[in-house]
Amino acid sequence: MNFHIMTLFPEMVMNGLSTSITGRAMERGLITVEAVNIRDYAENKHNTVDDYPYGGGAGMVMQAPPVWRCYQAVASRLEKRPRVIYMTPQGKVFSQKIAQELAQEEELVFLCGHYEGIDERALEMICTDHLSIGDYVLTGGELPAMVMIDCISRLVPGVLNNETSADVESFHDNLLEYPQYTRPEEFMGKKVPEVLLSGHHKNIEEWRRKQSIRRTLERRPDLLADASLTDKEKKYLEELLAISEPLC
Ligand code: ADE
Repeated sequence: MNFHIMTLFPEMVMNGLSTSITGRAMERGLITVEAVNIRDYAENKHNTVDDYPYGGGAGMVMQAPPVWRCYQAVASRLEKRPRVIYMTPQGKVFSQKIAQELAQEEELVFLCGHYEGIDERALEMICTDHLSIGDYVLTGGELPAMVMIDCISRLVPGVLNNETSADVESFHDNLLEYPQYTRPEEFMGKKVPEVLLSGHHKNIEEWRRKQSIRRTLERRPDLLADASLTDKEKKYLEELLAISEPLC
């Protein structure tokens, strides 16, 4: 999986993504990350890439020509027209489902804006997707691009040591992850649940599924509508709902 990030702050994304698991994935050649500086495609002596908005208003707008030239430099090295994702709070909100879909691509281009955004003509010519990381406004698209690349990378085979963990963790089956424990067996009087020490795999599996259901009901009940539960698990959920409903 090859990520290309068009940005005014290449060191920000490279420093962040070269750390920890994504950094190791880069070293192992499982992913590549290149940050391309849009400013390198400015064609004026001060290397400026922004200007005042036509029609007036606050702030500056990133100009179309350097963004377009930067895109052409990236795309010309690729075999086919890539998906180009514009980071914007106006986009569809990124999710695990979108990450899974994007993880199928071989090449992904992320376009990070700054100031009051990018000239609409460049966006129309280049972008295939508009994505947001949530309903709040950041100063630029770099952090959202890093969030998405981190999330997509962990779905690339081999990036996580434990092959199964990308599946099991939060949002698999639309359920949150069960609680985890490690040594010591007792911490400040709090013991690890007995079943986890039993070595009985079937019971452990059942306990974990129940914990996932319970936790999803408590913290993210909206996810349960699309969770795939067995008949037995549905019954368990109904029992939990009966307990939690007020007896009015
Ligand atoms: N740029 C600024 N805010 C953003 C957000 N919430 N998501 C994606 N890109 C952004």
